[in-house]
Amino acid sequence: MANNMKIGVFDSGLGGLVITQAFIKSQPQFDYFYYGDSAHLPYGEKTSGQILKYTLQGMRYMIEQNCKIIIIACNTATSIALRYIQQRFLPEYAPDIKVLGVVIPTVEVAAETNLKNVGVVATSATVRSHIYRTELHKINPNINVIELAAPELVPLIESNNFEYVEDFVKEYCNSFKDCGSLILGCTHYPLLKDMFRKYLPNVKVVSQDELMAEKLADYLKRHNEIYTCLGQNGLRDFRVSSLNKHSQKVAQNLFADIPLIKA
Ligand code: DGL
Repeated sequence: MANNMKIGVFDSGLGGLVITQAFIKSQPQFDYFYYGDSAHLPYGEKTSGQILKYTLQGMRYMIEQNCKIIIIACNTATSIALRYIQQRFLPEYAPDIKVLGVVIPTVEVAAETNLKNVGVVATSATVRSHIYRTELHKINPNINVIELAAPELVPLIESNNFEYVEDFVKEYCNSFKDCGSLILGCTHYPLLKDMFRKYLPNVKVVSQDELMAEKLADYLKRHNEIYTCLGQNGLRDFRVSSLNKHSQKVAQNLFADIPLIKA
């Protein structure tokens, strides 16, 4: 059995690097492949058909690059495309590959607290899918879920424009003051978690960079058939479909010594 395969992390842009950073910190021995489809960012403002098409292109590319397990760090792609990928695409195209998303692990953590009101801040497409509300209601149908789209945040983060972000965050937080917890349902928002926590000091702010590494480690522990295929040489290969100086700067702030290259 091959034991040189990679853990893949997929996102529509660079936000998924934050989760990748958490994976690497927790399990540095593995070989990681990152693919950000920045040529088509933002997914959050696209139609479901476009999101599915681009996510499938990403999956094909990552499977060609020898990924054994792929974590779709993108909430929008998880919301729209994961079920199709797991139920239709993989069985036919790559039955030995595993693809996981971020929504269910996040909901599990959010629901650990006994909650009445749960906030979700995400892209327009994720909010439109109501995936968080659906999954939270599977756990407890009495939870009141307040979902809000925040289309301004991703472009500001991707262009490294952090000065303007805080005013938007402050404004969004007004909608979540009565929540027991707030899900940051977008890959990019972990970069803003301190701001959300500043304006919502009494709310449990659920940030995916703080939960996904443990969920992945737990998954690999339970799936030896995947674990044994993974290379453990500490290799990193980070690629994007479109590269510019802003994206290089954002990536460099997160990983000073790993080059971001164009796929
Ligand atoms: N990666 C997307 C998400 O997590 C945000 C960026 C985008 O809209 O493409 O929903």
